[in-house]
Amino acid sequence: MAKLGLNVDHIATVRQARGGVEPDPVTAAALGEMAGAEGITIHLREDRRHIQDRDLEILRRTVKTKLNLEMAATQEMVRIALRIKPEQVTLVPEKRQELTTEGGLDVIVNLKQITDTVKRLRDGGIVVSLFVDPNQEQIKAANKTGADYIEIHTGAYAEAHNWTDQKRELDDIDTAIKLARKVGLGVNAGHGLDYVNIKALAALGGIEEYNIGHSIISRAMLVGLDRAVRDMVELIKYS
Ligand code: PXP
Repeated sequence: MAKLGLNVDHIATVRQARGGVEPDPVTAAALGEMAGAEGITIHLREDRRHIQDRDLEILRRTVKTKLNLEMAATQEMVRIALRIKPEQVTLVPEKRQELTTEGGLDVIVNLKQITDTVKRLRDGGIVVSLFVDPNQEQIKAANKTGADYIEIHTGAYAEAHNWTDQKRELDDIDTAIKLARKVGLGVNAGHGLDYVNIKALAALGGIEEYNIGHSIISRAMLVGLDRAVRDMVELIKYS
């Protein structure tokens, strides 16, 4: 059965907007696990715009399921990963100006650097996944690096606005899943997945783990707002 990896970066984004201590991604991770998430995903970005080093340190001690650290293949991040030892690292491309991760890794062009990084992490006992577009050449290159998994970048599928485009993207993902599994890579998927587009993707089969953040945290705000307002009204109503 496929597993949900809950990405709690957006909880940290809201916290950083005030620079305070709430909402805490550590608490969100615990609630997520209690609700059935079987992994917690965080992206420690070079500019520390949301997740902080403190979050990673505490989550390493508190996550009971599996900690999946998304990071760029830089010396600084590899040093941090080897010290903290998450169960899994997902290597992602990172640009400072982007709002969120914009595309998959170019494993073909960066084959040597990625292969070296995969080796260092795997030698440290960490499972390594590479975030790639559903492109056959990239998947063949990913296999050459010695990585354990690919995470298929589902952004193009999520952004397709009509059924013809969605179907084309789904076909590409399906071909990618089959190729990856054939060569022995495990398959995860993520980016832009929501309560509507997950259905056709899940129907393909072959994906072990879905890493989802934005849609779940967005829904949590809306489904939680009624209760949160009622709680505050209760506190002030006799004043
Ligand atoms: N997987 C990877 C590699 C990502 O970079 C992200 C975004 O941080 C996600 C999954 C989750 O994407 P979303 O927040 O759109 O669900």
